[in-house]
Amino acid sequence: MTDAQSFYGRWARVYDWIANAPGVTAWRDRTVEALALAPGDTVVEMGCGTGANVPHLRERVGPAGGVVGIDVTREMLDRAGERRRRTGEGVHYVQADASRPPVRAADAVLATFVAGIFEDPAAAVDAWCDCVAPGGRVALLNFQRSPSALAAPLNLAFEGFVRLSAPGTRLSTRSHASAFERRVRAARERLTARTVDRRYETLTGGYLGLLSGTVP
Ligand SMILES: C[S@@+](CC[C@H](N)C(=O)[O-])C[C@H]1O[C@@H](n2cnc3c(N)ncnc32)[C@H](O)[C@@H]1O
Repeated sequence: MTDAQSFYGRWARVYDWIANAPGVTAWRDRTVEALALAPGDTVVEMGCGTGANVPHLRERVGPAGGVVGIDVTREMLDRAGERRRRTGEGVHYVQADASRPPVRAADAVLATFVAGIFEDPAAAVDAWCDCVAPGGRVALLNFQRSPSALAAPLNLAFEGFVRLSAPGTRLSTRSHASAFERRVRAARERLTARTVDRRYETLTGGYLGLLSGTVP
């Protein structure tokens, strides 16, 4: 069992509550919008957790489309399966390692709050781009420190959040946050190298970065 599995296995219930808090919904909408989904599309979510994005994805792909949620932690997927809006026809959850996703020719891929967890995020992004058909979009949403001078106190909160959400190193909280940021940067650089028609936007005063692009 990986550090991520034991951490999220223990905290699945609490995570589910945070992941579906009212303010978070708008971030999820924006991410799903960046995928430019059409009715009938199949979209794959890497590290789908408790399925908080799934109702937003279902709305876009409609009854003829499909949503595949991949996550390595059984307890997170179990929570997803307990909610009516996150299950139903066309929704499939798969317990698997998202760095080797068992899917091909999807219309789009998203990964929210996930890229900073992988040891080799560039390789994970490569695998995600490889499972999208040409013309499909890939979107990454991640927390980051805000560059705003007024944000210094909240950047401490960011460091604490990262410590909790991306488990698995024995580093100090500050070094852990830096390692997390290096991983997110590596994921974004690889997505930039692999896609065209890219869009980048920040949300919530710069604390969230949303990068999306089209696989040529
Ligand atoms: C911070 S949560 C994000 C969940 C969801 N994407 C969201 O926006 O609420 C990170 C998720 O990544 C999953 N995860 C971590 N490593 C993974 C891996 N190698 N393959 C698949 N899922 C993984 C964890 O189990 C957890 O559910």
